[in-house]
Amino acid sequence: MSASILLQVNGETHAFALPRETPLIYVLRNDLGLNGPKFGCGLGECGACTVLMDGRATRSCVTTLGTAEGRAVTTLEGLATQGTLHPVQAAFIAEQAAQCGYCLNGMIMTTVAFLARNPAPTEAEARAALRYNLCRCGTHVEILRAVLRAAA
Ligand code: FES
Repeated sequence: MSASILLQVNGETHAFALPRETPLIYVLRNDLGLNGPKFGCGLGECGACTVLMDGRATRSCVTTLGTAEGRAVTTLEGLATQGTLHPVQAAFIAEQAAQCGYCLNGMIMTTVAFLARNPAPTEAEARAALRYNLCRCGTHVEILRAVLRAAA
């Protein structure tokens, strides 16, 4: 065990007596019960585990608790405000962009970060922004429509 590490998640601060090298996704899912981030590859390659760290899309499977200390972490659960879905969440539902849904956490979190820096993207820019988020069902067409709908 190590000294207490303070982690800010979805606006709340939590203290953990865990090794600094503990993967962030383990802390989010196992200790905080936040199941938005999904464990896919565990290697930083699929994007299912994406969260926002200081607004940047970040793969929580290859990010340590120590790295996240002092940063503002936002998970899928932190996007909605006062019971109202984030516009990106609403757009993904409106476009029926899920088949199995396992990738959607990463798709949505990556889209939120992307649209924050490029609010009016072209289709090509949206495709490029999501190129490292993998969907094994093949709903990329609906996902792309959702991204552009959220930007509109
Ligand atoms: Fe983190 Fe695949 S589970 S990138």
